[in-house]
Amino acid sequence: MSKTVFVTGATGLVGSRLVTALRERGDNVLALSRRSGPDTIEGDPSVPGPWLDLLDSCDAVVHLAGENIFAERWSTSFMKRIRDSRVASTELISERLAKSGNKSVAFISCSAIGYYGDPKTDFMANVCHEWEAAADRVRFAGNRVVHPRLGIVLDPKGGAMTNLVRPYRFFVGGRIGSGKQMVSWIHHEDLTRLLMFAIDSPKLLGPVNATAPNPVSNDELGRAIGKVLGRPHWLPVPRWALRIALGKIADTLVGGTCALPKAALEAGFEFRYPRIVEALQELLGKSISSNRNA
Ligand SMILES: NC(=O)c1ccc[n+]([C@@H]2O[C@H](COP(=O)([O-])OP(=O)(O)OC[C@H]3O[C@@H](n4cnc5c(N)ncnc54)[C@H](OP(=O)(O)O)[C@@H]3O)[C@@H](O)[C@H]2O)c1
Repeated sequence: MSKTVFVTGATGLVGSRLVTALRERGDNVLALSRRSGPDTIEGDPSVPGPWLDLLDSCDAVVHLAGENIFAERWSTSFMKRIRDSRVASTELISERLAKSGNKSVAFISCSAIGYYGDPKTDFMANVCHEWEAAADRVRFAGNRVVHPRLGIVLDPKGGAMTNLVRPYRFFVGGRIGSGKQMVSWIHHEDLTRLLMFAIDSPKLLGPVNATAPNPVSNDELGRAIGKVLGRPHWLPVPRWALRIALGKIADTLVGGTCALPKAALEAGFEFRYPRIVEALQELLGKSISSNRNA
């Protein structure tokens, strides 16, 4: 039976893929955007407006909106925007769903594997903790709340993948720092399927790592990109150089989190792209070429 699904951040990298997939299977999608458009409902998810009234009659709300962390260098005011756009919007939706008393609405409120950092010293870890806690009201009201904790989404349309692949296209790819930091990644198609699985699976609740079952080290990831593109993986980038070039976001980008999708697998979710080389082959449209440097 078709569902009514409200999606925030619907114009973003993850949201636009999800909206398309939900509409393709016949769901009625209410796609929120701060800009008006023919296929979207206008509204800011942090600011009360008529859009809030639509939440009560939905089967699920998927909350993906948030300031893009790559949009600017991380100044104090930009970091406040990163935090507020996620926490204030989650609080607003949570409060509304709790007040409506409709316990059958599932709240799929996205978060990130940044959650596993130390919230006392790591900005994104702190944001993720506050972001998830902001859903407490609707959780305590008895609705099903799922927090997909997203790993690095591999999507040729944008996001982290553009930055990861660019050096290899210019023949200057290599590991970052020691190369031992773990990278928990997910193919965009598996992420879309996992979000739909979260909408559809009444037993799934709480935190769910949205990451492929085989995370890789930064060195392995670079080696795999080099292999698939037929480019060398040879020029290491010292971590300090990345910090100078990118600022505070560098540590978040380099990663260092090994997250496994235990909850998703136990609930019966099957990944189409569990391994990095096959995922990259599909994403970059290449088969592995033999390369002496790879
Ligand atoms: N992509 C990844 O690798 C990754 C990894 C971990 C976690 N995540 C999280 O997953 C969510 C979706 O990621 P994404 O890659 O799809 O992000 P995205 O491409 O940057 O899209 C985010 C959407 O949020 C809305 N938005 C931006 N700034 C906003 C603000 N200040 N206030 C309210 N809404 C705002 C925008 O929609 P409008 O401009 O149309 O309003 C935008 O389409 C984000 O919360 C992100 O932190 C993503």
